[in-house]
Amino acid sequence: MESVVIYDSMFAYKNRPSSAPSQLTTQYSQPFTLLHYPYIIQYPLQPIEMPHTPISPAILYFGTPVAILSSENEDGTSNLAPMSSVWWLGHRCMLGLDASSKTPQNILRTKECVINLPSSDMVDHVNALALTTGSDPVSASKQERNYEFVKDKWTRANLTPLPSSLIQPHRILECPVQMECELTMTHPMLQDLFGTSGPLYALEMRVVKIWVRDELRMDWYDNRIDPDKWQPMIMSFQELYGLEGRKLGLSKLGGVREEKYRGLAEVDDVKTAEKFGADALA
Ligand SMILES: Cc1cc2nc3c(=O)[nH]c(=O)nc-3n(C[C@H](O)[C@H](O)[C@H](O)COP(=O)(O)O)c2cc1C
Repeated sequence: MESVVIYDSMFAYKNRPSSAPSQLTTQYSQPFTLLHYPYIIQYPLQPIEMPHTPISPAILYFGTPVAILSSENEDGTSNLAPMSSVWWLGHRCMLGLDASSKTPQNILRTKECVINLPSSDMVDHVNALALTTGSDPVSASKQERNYEFVKDKWTRANLTPLPSSLIQPHRILECPVQMECELTMTHPMLQDLFGTSGPLYALEMRVVKIWVRDELRMDWYDNRIDPDKWQPMIMSFQELYGLEGRKLGLSKLGGVREEKYRGLAEVDDVKTAEKFGADALA
């Protein structure tokens, strides 16, 4: 940890006595300061230790819900894929997916998928799907991480298909929340480095139908989910958690060494070094 004493902060500046200097000035002659600490001022209230250290983890999975996507294969069967780079705004949802996976290929072709949300007690189902792909042959990067091709992931994970109402891919009976979705926009990620045929996609989905188990609904309301009742499964750095902060057991994905994902971080490191100099990565 860097141990540099800094003098805090905008709070101190705003609350300075009227006799204190009113101009913002930097405290340091050290090279990093202005960029990262634009509000460091000379008027000190109290010295504090700098508690942060710059590091470069291979992955930045700080904690998002696990979803299981169901998408339709060319032959009309449906494929399942656990994923967690997912967030919602309104009735739109963004999915972050590895372009080599079967699921984005299915979604780009059919423009549809179901986003199923497993509850925190469904770890065994998620682990059964971990390190499997519906793509044959398995991509080189997935072979590196010991993935295997599995054609029928429903049987593999002991999950039950239910017909959807507006789209073709099936819902998963065991998941308490199921969202039927259609694709509205495709954003190839890392275009600045790879053009439009890069290794990742961000897919914008429109949620067209939402199914929830009755026991999750808020009393007295037609259209609300009770957050006291909903127990999502959260993935944080490849490990699986419930909202109470407890690890839910062994995560099969957690067996993959984080450094195996380093390649994607590295391409951006090159760009950072070009822009800010090699020292920026230190
Ligand atoms: C808990 C969990 C979370 C995952 N999150 C993602 C993710 O957000 N994006 C992604 O592309 N892959 C993610 N994966 C890996 C995919 O499941 C993997 O790429 C799989 O091969 C996709 O299946 P498919 O090729 O049949 O589509 C995750 C796996 C697990 C077990």
